[in-house]
Amino acid sequence: MEQTIRRSIDMTDHYAVIGNPVAHSKSPQIHAAFAAETGEDIDFSRLLAPLDGFRRSVDEFLAGNGRGLSVTLPFKLEALQLAARATERARLAGAANCLKLDDAGWHADNTDGAGLLTDLIDNLGFDPGGKRVLLIGAGGAARGILRPLLEAHPVLLHVANRTRQTAVELAQACAPNAGGKVTAGDIASAAAGRFDLVINATSASLRGDDLALPAGLYAEGSLAYDLVYARDSTPFMQLALSQGAARVADGLGMLVEQAAESFFLWRGLRPATAPVLAMLRNTL
Ligand code: ATR
Repeated sequence: MEQTIRRSIDMTDHYAVIGNPVAHSKSPQIHAAFAAETGEDIDFSRLLAPLDGFRRSVDEFLAGNGRGLSVTLPFKLEALQLAARATERARLAGAANCLKLDDAGWHADNTDGAGLLTDLIDNLGFDPGGKRVLLIGAGGAARGILRPLLEAHPVLLHVANRTRQTAVELAQACAPNAGGKVTAGDIASAAAGRFDLVINATSASLRGDDLALPAGLYAEGSLAYDLVYARDSTPFMQLALSQGAARVADGLGMLVEQAAESFFLWRGLRPATAPVLAMLRNTL
């Protein structure tokens, strides 16, 4: 009875970012801004799940009128496994960063790649179509963006990773029919490649490690893009400028754009992202 009354009063749809840790997440700020702008009546919180308790936390959230989750580390793989259905882009990424409740249960998606492409094309004016692209790293972050990058029709996409074999496996798993368009190797294999776009998808800076890169990576007019963001430029961005990149960008735009894509999935509305990106940049 009490449960029924509480449910009938609580008309607000609840969303949350689930992760461990999650205190650093900017998703609540971003989605609160999207909700205010679009006039949607939603509530967005942070959900710290125990490392061995992802499913239990999701079930409890659902019981409290939860409608959707933004999923962050280390649960992106479990989110995909938990879902009743998943989009092709989530399956190809092998991970989900977004869960939406629908009639069949949880529906998994991965909006990271779409977020990157929107940031590149709409915000930075860089279309990877016809360009030479270097993806550095072959872990979860790289896996999430490889296929969407390929769909932007670069002339070449080279995956370079510290552990060569992981790069080879990633290229085979995500792009089995890409022919010679997708190549893979160790970090040194990218030397003198003269790429138009170089993306850092390694976790080196998050671990406080140096990322040693060979010379000659950057073509004239090239863009160096770090999936990580920081108040000042990241070590990868600084190195890129010293090695000849024409311009650099961090991943804050991707963060906002993947959130906008998730918001669209949940609410069917596309919020304007520029004001939110500017607001976040000012608060870093
Ligand atoms: P994520 O989900 O953030 O991608 P991950 O799956 O652990 O995390 O992958 C981390 C990636 O960063 C890997 O490609 C890793 O290279 P290895 O496959 O050789 O481990 C790369 N990486 C981490 N630290 C690095 C460093 N100091 N130099 C170069 N690459 C590094």
